[in-house]
Amino acid sequence: MYGTRSIFLGGLCLLLLLQVLPVAVGLDNGLALKPPMGWMSWERFRCITDCKLYPNECISENLFRRHADLLVSEGYADAGYEYVIIDDCWLEKNRDNDTQKLVPDRKRFPNGLNSLADHIHDKGLKFGLYQDFGTNTCAGYPGVIKHMQLDAQTFADWDVDYVKLDGCYANLTDMVNGYPEFGRLLNETGRPMVYSCSWPAYQEEAGEMPDYESLKKHCNLWRNWDDIDDSLESLMQIIDYFGKNQDRIQPHGGPGHWNDPDMLLLGNYGLSYDQSKLQMAIWAIMAAPLIMSNDLAEVRPEIKAILQNRDVIAVDQDELGIQGRRVLTRNLIEVWKRPITPVTKGGEHSYAVAFVSRRDDGAPYRIPFTVKDLGLNNAKGYKVQDLYSSRQLGVYQTDSQFITRVNPNGVTFYKFTAL
Ligand code: GLA
Repeated sequence: MYGTRSIFLGGLCLLLLLQVLPVAVGLDNGLALKPPMGWMSWERFRCITDCKLYPNECISENLFRRHADLLVSEGYADAGYEYVIIDDCWLEKNRDNDTQKLVPDRKRFPNGLNSLADHIHDKGLKFGLYQDFGTNTCAGYPGVIKHMQLDAQTFADWDVDYVKLDGCYANLTDMVNGYPEFGRLLNETGRPMVYSCSWPAYQEEAGEMPDYESLKKHCNLWRNWDDIDDSLESLMQIIDYFGKNQDRIQPHGGPGHWNDPDMLLLGNYGLSYDQSKLQMAIWAIMAAPLIMSNDLAEVRPEIKAILQNRDVIAVDQDELGIQGRRVLTRNLIEVWKRPITPVTKGGEHSYAVAFVSRRDDGAPYRIPFTVKDLGLNNAKGYKVQDLYSSRQLGVYQTDSQFITRVNPNGVTFYKFTAL
């Protein structure tokens, strides 16, 4: 029989043991059950800090207030875009001398981040903020590494809802424990914050294999690879990276934990109308976060229509959260496909299917496939809808011929609903 004393001692030992052993606590914050949607400053506004020269473009309170307003007034919020995220270059170069707290640039954020957060929240939106795991952010502002607990608490005090943690000026070896640790500290504040990690992008750059199991456990989303720039070339490099490495990347995306191919370029200078449709379709296939980076006051109506296309957004936000894949390439036309809802009683998925042209030989390219060539084998066939024109194209059986015609460097995008 065990006496009270030995039970007490046993309990004490267990307590001590728990304190000594590293307890693996995952992020598990219940957030980002669908790929986050929103707007972020970096791709379009970079590190413009001269507000005298560029009052509408500098990284400042004004820029983020203006974009919170525009997200609502231009209809983006209704379409699902939610987070307003400050990227790099929002800080003073030094921490506060006494408290060691981070200080937002006093000239560009004269009212502090709480008042900006209030404005964003009053609009029904959520507030995101960039920081860096290392000694400095990529643009040279102070990073979190020596002040992780203080900074996590400061973010919570500023009513932050989303944190992007970059990885410049840090050792790769420190990231393995450091990123999970910062996630844990964010959680400990008690304020739910989406946690976006850039750690695997730095590992890839150094030729190291990211640990996806750890990422899934500790981050809501993660940047897998290079930064996107405002060109078709940059876009296609990223798409190719995800296509080539899909066997090891695709299985890990899902509700609460997403692969992030970086921001949407739509509304800027580098992509044509067709190329804009292409990025939006492939991001939807990849279950990617839909984070715009553009001047929402300048987006042309036809590009805005792509960004707000409800059918395409519904693919991206599909509740199953299964990331799609590049399944075949024929005559320089790539077929990308993603299993989505509705699922039949017999368990057959519906699919979003994108045909991406890597051709530039002038005319739109006409190409036939049988439905089963596309790997669609539902015995009762599929009802097909063109997602960009909303047109219903009728019912196709597995041995029906499906013909599409894709513009050079463009896309056609369909939903095959299983019957
Ligand atoms: C890195 C990130 C970008 C952006 C910049 C800011 O390059 O990958 O997304 O945050 O830093 O300096």
